[in-house]
Amino acid sequence: MIEGIEHIGIAVRSIEEARAFYEALGLEVEAIEEVPHEGVRVALIPCGAARIELLESTADDSPVGKFLAKRGPGLHHLCLETDDVKADDATLREAGFRVLRAEPTRGAGGCWVQFVHPASTGGVLLELSQRSDEESD
Ligand code: CO
Repeated sequence: MIEGIEHIGIAVRSIEEARAFYEALGLEVEAIEEVPHEGVRVALIPCGAARIELLESTADDSPVGKFLAKRGPGLHHLCLETDDVKADDATLREAGFRVLRAEPTRGAGGCWVQFVHPASTGGVLLELSQRSDEESD
């Protein structure tokens, strides 16, 4: 079941430069985390019930690095929180929607995540995220 918007991912060239805007509005960076297997550094900024996730590439050939090279900084993905990412993954596959990974994998914060291709969602890369303390099996 989808429980809400978890975060909105924004690709930036530099977290240090980009965070100043959000901090000017009174928001605060809660944590900065590196996810080596994704080639990305992530700054999490709580914003109401959701968060803004600033994504800085640490490798040119990473997904965020390629996105920046092709399109420049901007909206990268929308993340919905789910209580069962494996079930959602199965449901989407069965319905013919295009998920990007063979199965859910570990993302930032130890969450289990799957991604859905923009062609299936109305044009926005979509992440489904399940907190790691809510195992689906
Ligand atoms: Co994300």
